[in-house]
Amino acid sequence: MASIFTTKPVLWIRAFFEFLTTILIRFPIWVILALPRSNRPRPTWSIGRTVIIRVLQRLGSSSLGAVRTLIKSPDYRSLEQGKGVRGVWVPAVPHLIVGEVKKWAEEANVESVNIPAYWLERKGANLLPNARPLEGEKILFVLHGGAYAMQSAHPKDTAAHIPHGILDFSGASVNRAFMLEYRNSKSPAQPPSNPFPAALLDAIAGYNYLINEIGFAAENIVVEGDSAGGNLALALTRYLLQNKETDGIPPPPGGLILISPWTDLRPDPANRTSSFFANADSDFILDLVAEDGPAVMNFLGPHGKEAAVTNPYISPASLAPTMPPVSFEGYPRTLIISGMTEIFLDQIRVLYDRMKVNMGSKVRYMEFADVWHDFVLFPNLEPQRTEALNVIGGWIEE
Ligand SMILES: *[C@@H]1O[C@H](CO)[C@@H](O)[C@H](O)[C@H]1NC(C)=O
Repeated sequence: MASIFTTKPVLWIRAFFEFLTTILIRFPIWVILALPRSNRPRPTWSIGRTVIIRVLQRLGSSSLGAVRTLIKSPDYRSLEQGKGVRGVWVPAVPHLIVGEVKKWAEEANVESVNIPAYWLERKGANLLPNARPLEGEKILFVLHGGAYAMQSAHPKDTAAHIPHGILDFSGASVNRAFMLEYRNSKSPAQPPSNPFPAALLDAIAGYNYLINEIGFAAENIVVEGDSAGGNLALALTRYLLQNKETDGIPPPPGGLILISPWTDLRPDPANRTSSFFANADSDFILDLVAEDGPAVMNFLGPHGKEAAVTNPYISPASLAPTMPPVSFEGYPRTLIISGMTEIFLDQIRVLYDRMKVNMGSKVRYMEFADVWHDFVLFPNLEPQRTEALNVIGGWIEE
């Protein structure tokens, strides 16, 4: 869609106009509208929290889709070094891609490639970037969120708020996080487009790197994924379990932390009472993850919409009658966290119910009142963010 409205100078003008109209017009209106409690998405919310969600909703709205392309963040094509930044290249693992996933990769014309990753250290840990694990050291393998369309693993990206928070709140057995710059999917108009399973191939490479290059035991790896990263963490584990008999495939990790995981890419569009629609006003991501929106369609790529209602790697919590039974047999201990005002609430509850069937008390689930999707990402969503980080830190040490 190379229209005049999406050329760079026009996009900058639109961004500037958006900024002005938001400051001068939208912002005052949002504040006035939020004065009566009954007008807020939740009567318990403050005016401040209400206005923040309005800003986020506006930033995430489909009307600003083209303007959002002006936001450039680091991606898998280059390692972005800088002061205090400790990046490494993770080598491709074509020999570890087998079975169904290999078939899907061929269908989508994606292969395993070299990708960057960044180390993040707990304050005062003072380890060399690729230092061998200390005795009993656990590592956080971080898969960021962003609907497979946005955000980056780079330590300067907003996504790093989560691993920073976890390192601050976890005990002495965790010194560092390894944040993987997996491939986001781009519009097919902007090749290379990297649909499913490109990000999964990268997650396999990053996980293998921690085990076979750095020397971590699988049971000391805790995979943490928020939103799309939670989707990816579940898919990675499914892959490791399904192919565990194959030579060279490492064992599954010691634990999973899933923060607001995206687990159904095509919720029933006719069910308006589901949280996906009912919580739209108290969350900010409805346009970003819309069933037929660009993020979902670019991620599904040549596999098409059916993949979102038939493939457990993509939608492990789908309620569609076309989805085969989804098993979590063999999954490691898992902590799931959600915000009660988020649109993914129902699918996360389905995920928990399904995991419980196979995992019993190995899966733990906590809902936090009055907060939206991926609230741990937002430094000011207190006290819920601190409460969640305390739970996560304690859970890692258990
Ligand atoms: C709609 O979604 C809600 C919440 O997930 C669920 O309880 C209900 O059964 C669904 N209704 C239909 C008709 O699928």
